[in-house]
Amino acid sequence: MSSTETKLLVANWKSQLQLLQIQEWLKTFSLQEKRTNREYVLCPPQPFLGYVGTQNVFSASPETFTLGAQNLSVFEAGAYTGESSASAAHSLGAQFAILGHSERRKYFRETSQEVAQKAELALSWEITPIICVDQDQFEDQVHALNKKTRDLSIFAYEPIHAISSFGGQEDPLETTLQAIAKLRELVGDDAEVLYGGSVDKENSLTYLSQESISGALVGKSSLDPVLFAQL
Ligand code: PGA
Repeated sequence: MSSTETKLLVANWKSQLQLLQIQEWLKTFSLQEKRTNREYVLCPPQPFLGYVGTQNVFSASPETFTLGAQNLSVFEAGAYTGESSASAAHSLGAQFAILGHSERRKYFRETSQEVAQKAELALSWEITPIICVDQDQFEDQVHALNKKTRDLSIFAYEPIHAISSFGGQEDPLETTLQAIAKLRELVGDDAEVLYGGSVDKENSLTYLSQESISGALVGKSSLDPVLFAQL
C-alpha cells in the first residue's frame, strides 16, 4: 500500500442515465484533463453495458479505462427471465462487477450468501468482484466468502449512512480509517479496499491520499463527467 500509487475510481451510475446522457457523458469526460494517477471503471446501467463497452475510450486506453457491471445474476446463463448473467457481462467486455451494494441488499433483499455465489460466478468469467460491505456487518459479509473469492476480490467499504441515497452523513475520517483497518485484518493488507459514500470534489483527496484506501466507489459525483474527472 502506498499513498502515491494509482487510485481506482469506480463510477456507479446506478439506474440513472439514459442513452443520450451517456453519449454526452462520454464525450465530455474524454475532453477533461484528468489526474495522472487514476484508473477508471465505468459501471453503466445494465441495458447500456454493451453500448458503453464498444466506445473507443476502452480500446484507446485499456490500462486506464475498464468496464464494470453493477450486478450479476446469481445463476449461470439459462432460462431465468430478466436476469443478466456473468457470462453475458463478460462477453460485453466487463472486467469488474459491483456486488452486494447496500441498495441491492436493502431493496432486493440480497443476502451475503447470494453475493458470495455471484462473486464465484464472476471469477469463473474473469470478472473481478467489487464487493460492497457496510459498517455494521462487514465481518459476516466477508466471512460468507470463500478464501479464493476473498483473495481475488476488491472490497468497497461503504457505511450505509454515508451513501448519498441513504442520507449522505459522512463519518469522521478517523472512524473510517479504523473500520478499514479492521476490514483489512479480514481481507489482508494486499487487498484493494475502496471507500464509498458521498465522495465528491471537496473530500476526494482526503480519502484518496490515505495509504489504506485504494480508490473510491462513486455514485452521485460520477454522474457529472466534469466533476468525476476532478476526483
Ligand atoms: P454516493 O454513492 O457517492 O452517491 O454516496 C456511493 C455508492 O452508492 O456506491
